Amino acid sequence: MMPTNEKTYTTAARFMLHGGDYNPDQWLDHPEILAEDLKLMKLSGSNTFSLGIFAWSTLEPEEGQFHFEWLDSIIDNIASIGGRVILATPSGARPAWMSQKYPEVLRVNESRVQQLHGGRHNHCFTSPVYREKTAKMNRMLAERYGKHPALLMWHISNEYGGECHCDKCQDAFRSWLKVKYADDLKALNDSWWGPFWSHTFSDWSQIESPSPIGENMVHGLNLDWKRFVTDQTISFFENEVTAIKELTPDIPITTNFMADTHDLIPFQSLDYSKFAKHLDVISWDAYPAWHNDWETTANLAMKVGFINDLYRSLKQQPFLLMESTPSAVNWHKVNKAKRPGMHLLSSMQMVAHGSDSILYFQWRKSRGSSEKFHGAVVDHDNSAENRVFKEVSKVGETLGKLSQVVGTNRPADVAILYDWENNWALDHAQGYGSETKSYPQTLQEHYRTFWEQDIPVDVITKEQDFSGYKLLVVPMLYLASERTIARLKRFVADGGTVVMTYISGIVNEYDLTYLGGWHQDLRDVFGINPVETDTLYPSDRNAVHYGGRSYELTDYATVLENHSADVVGTYEQDFYAETPAVTSNRYEKGEAYYIGGRLEEQFHRDFYQGLIRELSLQPVFPIAHGPGVSVQVRQDAAQDYAFVMNFTEQEQTVSIDAKAKDLVTGEDLSGELALAKYEVRILAVNG
Ligand code: GLA
Ligand code: GLA
Repeated sequence: MMPTNEKTYTTAARFMLHGGDYNPDQWLDHPEILAEDLKLMKLSGSNTFSLGIFAWSTLEPEEGQFHFEWLDSIIDNIASIGGRVILATPSGARPAWMSQKYPEVLRVNESRVQQLHGGRHNHCFTSPVYREKTAKMNRMLAERYGKHPALLMWHISNEYGGECHCDKCQDAFRSWLKVKYADDLKALNDSWWGPFWSHTFSDWSQIESPSPIGENMVHGLNLDWKRFVTDQTISFFENEVTAIKELTPDIPITTNFMADTHDLIPFQSLDYSKFAKHLDVISWDAYPAWHNDWETTANLAMKVGFINDLYRSLKQQPFLLMESTPSAVNWHKVNKAKRPGMHLLSSMQMVAHGSDSILYFQWRKSRGSSEKFHGAVVDHDNSAENRVFKEVSKVGETLGKLSQVVGTNRPADVAILYDWENNWALDHAQGYGSETKSYPQTLQEHYRTFWEQDIPVDVITKEQDFSGYKLLVVPMLYLASERTIARLKRFVADGGTVVMTYISGIVNEYDLTYLGGWHQDLRDVFGINPVETDTLYPSDRNAVHYGGRSYELTDYATVLENHSADVVGTYEQDFYAETPAVTSNRYEKGEAYYIGGRLEEQFHRDFYQGLIRELSLQPVFPIAHGPGVSVQVRQDAAQDYAFVMNFTEQEQTVSIDAKAKDLVTGEDLSGELALAKYEVRILAVNG
């Protein structure tokens, strides 16, 4: 379902959440620090704190000895200053006694080596002991705090990820496969293309998870294993929330998602589109490397926009920024501080794309261990006077003026399709260019034009409803099941416009190629048959002639046989020179475009410009501006809330063609407006 302009409140709060991970369990011997925290919380305009994320060894220092008094008083103290609590279940890290007494909780890696105790996020999700221990702990937390007026939300575990290959997980995987293949080993062998390298199994017990010292090239197995890991993690999660759902049915549940930091691409170890269905609210931890030395600020901002639009679209409602840093992190290659102004700008960008919170990791900087130099609201100087604290307070003050934005959505006419299974299958595929598949990065390239023009985009997954969109962009959908193909066909038949690219519709959901050429439904819809894909060396170049000019082509060129399409672009060089490269085909009430090659940025601008005109795709609230400025809008029935953001290092002038009110300063604005380097203005306009 696409969002409407009705508000969707995901928690009981009617204000923007501001605050973050608070780890008082590190400071219980320092009552003066805990008292100071309360003062600083108020001073910084913070209102919400995530508690207990890594507190298991404080909550249960010895097996069966529980200590909740400290947490009682922390929660009461936060409540006393009007704050709210996001209470975590502590399963992200285990106490040492548990690993020592029950070694089955320790994860076994893909080389079948059992890990020692240490670190975090490294548990066996199948282990009955770990499931029992977490269930017991979570029930106690829900019983004790479920009715506390400060409790806003549950934060289940922390950044679920990774996989365990122990014997218990192997058994669980085999059981999962038996269900999937209805106890039919032949069906499994057929799906996994068993006779290849003599890999036909004669008994279920022979099947093992992929391993560098064993099997890792059976693509059907690889894909099923990834699916199993997602399902097993969700099953562990469901075990964690059983008592919580029973005792606190009205308190929303989230777990914090992640993204790759360098390219801001979706986290790969779990299929979040499946996980999303089990959560009330999507939340995620964003750590973009602002001011890096490999891209412009605007380019990074575009990628942040993309991933936000994906995570928001998973539930088509506002999401929460669960963690971010007010300054630097401690785990980038270079841990550069956010320059003055960037903290407010980068925070407002999250809100602009649908976040109803700005939360940090962490409230107070640790004194010891690996995160002692990770940015935090309160530094080791314990001061409210330093630059970072002041920038955080500015964000708090700004968020305080945005309460009416809470719950507002971002309706969009354009959707880009992202699919985790496709990402995995493409990564597994031995073929094409091993370094150049870049599936999510390709999606970002298609997203770019819309971002530059402030046209709202949903980044959706394959099971979501396509029908409300005018334009659906489907780059590199290598793995496309019969079902997905049928859904795309229906979308076009009903009047939708679809854009597909090279390397699409190659394998089905078992990672088996389609036989007899391209799927007949795709041939009908696109009016072409892609017959050969040429992979280029990094230094190779080709070009496509389109709309009277030439656009550079790198990496991939698909040779197309034309049946009924209009050829709107042709290759310029090589043995397929002058053959179709870009096509457009009328199919029933809709239109289907195919882009055969990987083309430069300017091609996407010019190509999509045509569709933007034809389909009347528009920014919600038109503001004329130059490159590097982004205007993202949230809407309710009465108003549009436009976040006008300068992601450049220069002053920019924008032009507002309406009467707007600055939500922060209260000023009425229209006409030209100057934006300083990194400045953001938040405007309300009657919708
Ligand atoms: C070797 C092997 C073949 C095949 C090819 C692929 O020659 O003997 O089975 O894998 O490599 O290039
Ligand atoms: C992750 C974790 C936090 C913290 C931060 C540091 O997001 O969830 O506990 O380690 O990284 O950036």
